Amino acid sequence: MSETNQVSKNVLNRISQLIVGRKKELQLMIRAISKGLPIIIEGSVGTGKTEMAKVLAQSLERPFVRVDGDDNLTSIKLKGWYDPPLVLEKGFSRETFIPGPLTHAMENGGIFFYNEVNRAPSETINAVLTALDEKLITIPQIGEIVAKDGFISIFTYNPEDTVATNPLPKAFYDRCIWIHVSHQTFEEMKEIVFLRTNSSDRLIIAISCEIVQATINHPELEMSSTVRGAIHLVELYENQEIIEEQTLIERVIAVHSRKIRCKTTSSKTESEIIEEIVSKVLSRYEDDRIIRKKE
Ligand SMILES: Nc1ncnc2c1ncn2[C@@H]1O[C@H](COP(=O)(O)OP(=O)(O)OP(=O)(O)O)[C@@H](O)[C@H]1O
Ligand SMILES: [Mg+2]
Repeated sequence: MSETNQVSKNVLNRISQLIVGRKKELQLMIRAISKGLPIIIEGSVGTGKTEMAKVLAQSLERPFVRVDGDDNLTSIKLKGWYDPPLVLEKGFSRETFIPGPLTHAMENGGIFFYNEVNRAPSETINAVLTALDEKLITIPQIGEIVAKDGFISIFTYNPEDTVATNPLPKAFYDRCIWIHVSHQTFEEMKEIVFLRTNSSDRLIIAISCEIVQATINHPELEMSSTVRGAIHLVELYENQEIIEEQTLIERVIAVHSRKIRCKTTSSKTESEIIEEIVSKVLSRYEDDRIIRKKE
């Protein structure tokens, strides 16, 4: 086995302890990274984009900076700025320039992790483009800063998120390797909830995941819930707590009612759909800890 393959295998083994499933996607990401290619993880809400990017970046054991896209994230904040008192004293130079996270990652051969890239203004994305393929950026008064070997970029992106977001320029699309992620299987979902909550209560984990599963592709919902909802519901239960139907409905409403959305064609409310789902899911379980509502 070549040295690169061995490194990739070790990284993948480390990641497997923290990420459930996603082997193919992770292998592809590691391969792209080993070639210095920028990657973008694309998927809808709660599909594990941030977690995958974070774990991958941390497991590579290189300097690592993270930024989260928002309207105020200007290109100056990303690249860096001059310190006015120092400039007065020493003039414009690399010494008086305070590197932003992008420059920092480039100068240290590190990982630049940009979460929710479509939340940043377009001018910021444009400023990143040369860093992606040519591995350089231009700083006024200094000139070009060229990235050290090892510099790579990882982005996350939710194409369904249209509030407070900006379209990404085509040039950006063109420079990245796209990793698409969608909802994981029921079995994987249970493993994720187990991993994230440390709960040993397999019954509430299974019920919570079934509830989420029932929202996915539900004919009356235009927006389904995610594994995050299953994690939240399990957190609301003590270990081995009695599962009383009415209390479960109330907690599921608290967790999911704003995570799901009814189609305009549906005559039901989110809470009504939740009640139906809970009753259907509970009907599949025979367990002394479950107390059903009286008809
Ligand atoms: N494959 C996975 N392995 C382990 N944990 C996961 C996995 N997928 C999701 N999670 C967990 O599920 C939750 C949601 O994941 P995450 O925040 O990464 O989603 P996201 O795609 O970034 O969502 P958003 O679009 O809302 O930012 C987190 O608690 C995360 O730890
Ligand atoms: Mg995220």
